[in-house]
Amino acid sequence: MANSIESTLVETRVFQPPQNFVEQANVAGQASYQALLEAADRDPDAFWAKQAREHLHWTKPFTKVLDESRAPFFEWFGDGELNVSANCLDANLKNGNASKVAIIFESDDGVVKKITYQQLHDRVCQLANGLKALGYKKGERSIIYMPMSIEAVVAMQACARLGITHSVVFGGFSAKSLHERITDVGASLVLTADEQMRGGKAIALKPAVDEALAMGGCEAVRHCIVYKRTGGKIAWDAKRDVWFHDVADKQATTCEPVAVGAEHPLFILYTSGSTGKPKGVQHSSGGYLLWAKLTMQWVFDAKANDIFWCTADVGWVTGHTYIAYGPLAAGLTQIVFEGVPTYPNAGRFWKTIQDQKVSIFYTAPTAIRSLIKTSDADAAVHPKSFDLSSLRLLGSVGEPINPEAWMWYHTNVGGGRCPIVDTWWQTETGGHMITPMPGATPLKPGSCTTRLPGITAAIVDEVGGDVAAGQGGFLVIKRPWPSMIRGIWGDPERYVKSYFPPELGGYYLAGDGAQCDKDGCFWIMGRIDDVLNVSGHRLGTMEVESALVAHEMVAEAAVVGRPDATTGEAIVAFVVLKRTRPEGDEALALGKQLRDWVAKEIGPIAKPKEIRFGDNLPKTRSGKIMRRLLRVVAAGEAITQDISTLENPAILDQLSKPV
Ligand code: WT7
Repeated sequence: MANSIESTLVETRVFQPPQNFVEQANVAGQASYQALLEAADRDPDAFWAKQAREHLHWTKPFTKVLDESRAPFFEWFGDGELNVSANCLDANLKNGNASKVAIIFESDDGVVKKITYQQLHDRVCQLANGLKALGYKKGERSIIYMPMSIEAVVAMQACARLGITHSVVFGGFSAKSLHERITDVGASLVLTADEQMRGGKAIALKPAVDEALAMGGCEAVRHCIVYKRTGGKIAWDAKRDVWFHDVADKQATTCEPVAVGAEHPLFILYTSGSTGKPKGVQHSSGGYLLWAKLTMQWVFDAKANDIFWCTADVGWVTGHTYIAYGPLAAGLTQIVFEGVPTYPNAGRFWKTIQDQKVSIFYTAPTAIRSLIKTSDADAAVHPKSFDLSSLRLLGSVGEPINPEAWMWYHTNVGGGRCPIVDTWWQTETGGHMITPMPGATPLKPGSCTTRLPGITAAIVDEVGGDVAAGQGGFLVIKRPWPSMIRGIWGDPERYVKSYFPPELGGYYLAGDGAQCDKDGCFWIMGRIDDVLNVSGHRLGTMEVESALVAHEMVAEAAVVGRPDATTGEAIVAFVVLKRTRPEGDEALALGKQLRDWVAKEIGPIAKPKEIRFGDNLPKTRSGKIMRRLLRVVAAGEAITQDISTLENPAILDQLSKPV
């Protein structure tokens, strides 16, 4: 972490918003941005009420804005009613967007399918009618375990149309992770696909659902709806399984949207925390959708003729806010991409931008860094070999972007003319929080710059006091905002403990360390808890440790992050086996076995990059594992810390050598 602070704070380059961008921007120039900031700070309730009335269609208007009476369980627009799907679809039919393309689906193998707003509306209504026919209704929970597809968006929107709270599980998660989510959320419905296509290979999905449902505790699940993606062979339980097309195809193409209260949970999305059990982050309907739509217009400067592409998967919050909801609420045409950046070659992103004339492109630093490497080695896949002149705005999300990667993105992808919005936010925040407004904010490579209007982000010390510019501290949000997390599903205490620790006096604790420079720009320094960020994916060290100790050979495990040039952080696991410490080839073989085990327990994204075996782990005399020292050891750095409280200092030497 020390390195990243140094490298970011020596950054002195500043990029002013290009004049031609400012001239057409939704928020044009510093003065407009300042005016919004001031309006929101002066009278937050009036500001948010105005935005919510202007941007959303309410079936029952709200009279209350923010209700703090049960803080930190906040309510927004609490007595208002609306339907999210009607705001995303029906609103576009009324706006004259019926025959506008809503989604350009690009499949893994390059086949392109387009669907208009009218067609998307009709598909959503058909599935919603099908769900109704199966007896599903408002208040139930569904699990969506589907590949990137139009059908995944249809599934989310159909649930929203009926007031069914969805919980999307990323297709890379294991049967066990899926089971954990199905039971925690109390799902009565699962939507999946036979298989998914990634990089030319078919990967099974339905078998993981079968396995999860067989694990017990899933008795509430009445149906498993299966989208036929590949036609691959799958097992079938005639009492439970139904084909997506059989549920939807014969249904009517209109379905009355079910009005829900603004606070009705639109979705629950699981994310890692500092204990072994993932947290079910609960989001609202009204406040969430407001921010999804507003940030599309402010941060992505959305315009009617844009072609928007967010490369995230719908299994993550980015794919919820900036694929399934925001772009549709804003009436844009967007790309939904099934494939991977490296198939059929590492020019896939650039070719797709060229072919589909993408104007706004939003991706993760880890993808950029890996594509820098491949295009340095092969000119044919370098962005310069493609016509990227349709681009006007770039975005970055998920982890800090290092200044070198920022510059490469700016020069080679953006042709030096496109602003980059480095958007800091989290599963819990629902949408962008600290980010440039592209027509207003001067950019600094590596900084997510300044807070959005209404977002009272600040850096504080351990008792909630503001810290001076240039000093590190905890990133907090001082006042509630409409799209904030509403709770951790089934665990209100953990919600309060994780996000509103009493010593911070009511501020929302983001879990990131950060600092502000003298211009008020934020620099994110990384997590302050035991959460890792691997390729923009959030993982708890405890989660990986629990998976490791669940293996019969393992006595003890400690997991830490190590800075990695491509993935941001890499997972390094220190393991003590129940048998004697393996060495050489045997250690390599056992390491591989344990890495595969973690992939099976959690999912391939959680696979440790390296496993080191020890006779023991570094512990204090009271038996506490000193992860701080393990981080130093994993990074291959010399230990300069005080190790006098260590029971067994000699172990550090043994653990410092890679297998
Ligand atoms: C954590 C949240 C935001 C949606 C995807 C990840 C890190 C996210 C940035 C950024 C520096 C960032 C933070 C945050 N993070 N965006 N632009 N610059 N760090 O959502 O899985 O909930 O992870 O990702 O550490 O706390 P998530």
